Amino acid sequence: MKDDDAVVVIDTRGCDDHDDDDNCLNQLEHRQINQNELDGYVYRGEGNANLVISLPSTRSVLRFRKLTLDYDDENHNDNYKKKINFEMKFYNKFIKKHMNGFSSVGELIYCPTNIIDDWNIKVEGLRPEQRKNKYIYENIAMKLPDYSLLPEYLDDNLTRKSNYCIEIKPKQGFVPEGDRFIEKCPYCLTQFYKLAVEKIKETSKYCPCDLFSGDEKRMKKAIFNLVDSPQNNLILFKDGTRIWGDGYHRDELKRLLTECFSSDDKVEDKLCNLIIKALLRPLSKPSIFLNNNNSLKKYHNNLFEYYNINLTKFNNFIENKKCNFQYNYLQEGCVLDKLYKLQKLHDTNLYEIYNIYQKYSNINNVNLYFDNNVNDDIIRLRNYLLFSTARDCSILFSFRKIDLCDLSKYPASNVISSQDQSHHFVFNIGVTDLDPKNLESIKKHHQQFINSINAINIIN
Ligand SMILES: Nc1ncnc2c1ncn2[C@@H]1O[C@H](COP(=O)(O)OP(=O)(O)O)[C@@H](O)[C@H]1O
Ligand SMILES: [Mg+2]
Ligand SMILES: [Zn+2]
Repeated sequence: MKDDDAVVVIDTRGCDDHDDDDNCLNQLEHRQINQNELDGYVYRGEGNANLVISLPSTRSVLRFRKLTLDYDDENHNDNYKKKINFEMKFYNKFIKKHMNGFSSVGELIYCPTNIIDDWNIKVEGLRPEQRKNKYIYENIAMKLPDYSLLPEYLDDNLTRKSNYCIEIKPKQGFVPEGDRFIEKCPYCLTQFYKLAVEKIKETSKYCPCDLFSGDEKRMKKAIFNLVDSPQNNLILFKDGTRIWGDGYHRDELKRLLTECFSSDDKVEDKLCNLIIKALLRPLSKPSIFLNNNNSLKKYHNNLFEYYNINLTKFNNFIENKKCNFQYNYLQEGCVLDKLYKLQKLHDTNLYEIYNIYQKYSNINNVNLYFDNNVNDDIIRLRNYLLFSTARDCSILFSFRKIDLCDLSKYPASNVISSQDQSHHFVFNIGVTDLDPKNLESIKKHHQQFINSINAINIIN
């Protein structure tokens, strides 16, 4: 277990050139979309906050911020510029440094959706019902590489094989000591809530702690369980088109993988091995971590009472379904290691964070993230929010089968071969959805925890 190392933490205090906010307002560089960039554009997908279309002619995507109808029209534009400016600074200060090699800043593009041909048919017509509560968009979108496709330098497509991509939302793989007073991780706990409110028909067996464990056996179990119950956390794309995910049949996946691997032998097994190798491959320089002297060592000692948890009942309920908080070594510079370290910034517990939040709920986001002279409480809030960003992102692993004779044409770091050396793949990994979180999300997370505990009390 590597976890007994001194707690290491990214220094989130300073070393940032502190731009004056208003100064930056007018410096937002953006250009208008060229009509030819939109050739053959396709709806890609969306989450709660953004809607994404792909631009196949440039191997990129446009990410539009979705809005609710009640946004303040008058000040909206200024506020939006401030927000983008804030997000760019956030990216430059935290993400660029600590997710280097896996994400890029993007380019701002002026692009009102009403100038895009057939938006209603090609986008609105394909949106899932449950996402349609928001249906207007900012007119400045972020143009990013399309991580479902290999970057051009890895893609001469000598074999003319399809370009596949697996998207995984890994969720919370690291659980701080202070949150281990119950032996269920937050992701697994939330499953009970989803079951109680009938968002899902059965709980998923996927545990993020297994995926981040670095133990190949447990990682394999995690990926199998994701395949078993993908919910919103595993999607398969082929040449940029979603071909499998939640709601699709398992047999269909087997058929698709048979085509992908040009073999029908243990294809799910093959997929798991491939994903594990990719997630553990160091593709980037290790993060710079500094020792953190602030970690809170004393926790509230009666959280059971505070949250109204009857431990005996709880343990009876989860029996045999405890989450495993043991971690092995993760190769430095692999995508899991990067995300794990960002998540590890949160080293107190949710209860403490919620209490600190209540003290500082009026602090603005700019000070929260960018002030250099802040106390330990603010550092804890900041670290918690960075942890939340790393918890909610997506990993996009794209790959293409290559022939043995072409192996040497690709950088060795981007090639994976099967154990028996019969299959070879060139691959890349990108991480998206690394946006800054608002302070208010702490309130939401705390409520989510309470809801999950209550759900167990009800089911129990
Ligand atoms: N750079 C990208 N390359 C490829 N696909 C992307 C990219 N960014 C987003 N997507 C796709 O669009 C979906 C929604 O985008 P996301 O950024 O996660 O939105 P939200 O912030 O609302 O969760 C993702 O789950 C992913 O499938
Ligand atoms: Mg998302
Ligand atoms: Zn778990």
